[in-house]
Amino acid sequence: MSAGRRRSHLWKGVVDPSQETVFDGTCGSGILLTTAFRRMLGHAQAARGEPLNVVERIALLKSRIFGSDVSEPACRVSAFSLYLSLLEELVPRDLVELTSAPNVKLPELLGSNLIAGKPGDFFAATNPFAGRAKFSVLLSNPPWSEPDDLRAAGEAPLGYEAWAKREGRALVRRQIAAAYAQRAVDSVTANGRLVLILPASLLLAPTSQPFLVDWLSRVRPERLINFGDMRRQLFAAADHGCVVIVARPRDPQARPVVPVSEVFDYWVPKVDVSLAFGRLTLHTSDRARVQTQELIQDNAVLRYRTWGTEADVRLVRRLLREGTIEELAEQRGWAIGKGFNRTRHNSPKLSPFAQATVSPRPCDSAPMASVARLRAENFSQGDRYRCLVRFAGRRSIPRSARAVSRWHLCGTGSPVGFRR
Ligand SMILES: C[S@@+](CC[C@H](N)C(=O)[O-])C[C@H]1O[C@@H](n2cnc3c(N)ncnc32)[C@H](O)[C@@H]1O
Repeated sequence: MSAGRRRSHLWKGVVDPSQETVFDGTCGSGILLTTAFRRMLGHAQAARGEPLNVVERIALLKSRIFGSDVSEPACRVSAFSLYLSLLEELVPRDLVELTSAPNVKLPELLGSNLIAGKPGDFFAATNPFAGRAKFSVLLSNPPWSEPDDLRAAGEAPLGYEAWAKREGRALVRRQIAAAYAQRAVDSVTANGRLVLILPASLLLAPTSQPFLVDWLSRVRPERLINFGDMRRQLFAAADHGCVVIVARPRDPQARPVVPVSEVFDYWVPKVDVSLAFGRLTLHTSDRARVQTQELIQDNAVLRYRTWGTEADVRLVRRLLREGTIEELAEQRGWAIGKGFNRTRHNSPKLSPFAQATVSPRPCDSAPMASVARLRAENFSQGDRYRCLVRFAGRRSIPRSARAVSRWHLCGTGSPVGFRR
């Protein structure tokens, strides 16, 4: 799959892109709007068999492309990028018209198609585009941020939190992208579609379940592409992976809300040598059909299917019948604490206790010289640890994982400690 093919997947099922109205509520420098406009232009010109003249291009831009952003400089860059796309490959006759005809000018975009500043806030009641069910496509890469949970008592909620509270919409971890995805649903027409670039954790983290339960009752996912494996290839310093989700609003009158037969595509492309040739290979084993109801019940299915096959999912389910690590710890009177990390330098260290008590397991290639304590509220400085193990998972992974009983578990997730 080349970059071009990746983009065309986002337009899959759209018969004529030039008939769509596209809105990006956090348009920034306008890369997504510019790409959408180019696509519309290309389609309209191919259908006609000749280039659109400048007046037609202006009409297409003015009637089809809309954006907003709190940052005015960002909106100015968006406008500039759209002008460049408008002027691309114009013929000399058009240029003469632009420079000499008094009624042919580059169109005003700021303040009409692009809304900046306070009314450009996606959560503001004064935003003329957001939440008004006007557009056929909402295409966005919203901001991702989870402000520190420890909010001072009495501190006012942030704008998006106040909006979510008023509307009764579920957010998780104070993530602004969750609020964006919620309001996005209200911004498209009944047949519209959402194309959102979201932090992978918003779909995959266990703590995201309340958001998913609420959001999936309002949208029908069509395709979810998890780019987590290539986050460093996309952005060298990326801490978080991203997913692209294509979804449509549900009919609020339809019952049952989510039919059991509903499934969506879940694709998890992996980094391999084809990237060096500008292509992204999607192997058959990295494509799954996931039942929406299953995701609503437990998003573990997305984590299992990130690396596992259908057979692996069945194996995990079978093992889960014997209980979970959490249950095992409970039976034996152990406390479990998660959030140890040896590289988070700004966190309080457990050392020197950690050095004395945390012994590296055979599978650890690097010894844990010091261990930072994040939010392991079950633990305190003087505790002795039975072990520290690292796995990318959660307490509810099967207890019968052979490695647990032998304390040989290892993996790439943040360490989990057991205290007796
Ligand atoms: C990840 S960037 C978007 C990047 C964009 N697709 C581009 O091409 O540059 C996020 C953008 O969201 C904007 N933003 C943050 N909070 C916002 C809000 N509440 N309403 C509208 N825009 C917001 C920021 O100014 C920033 O430009």
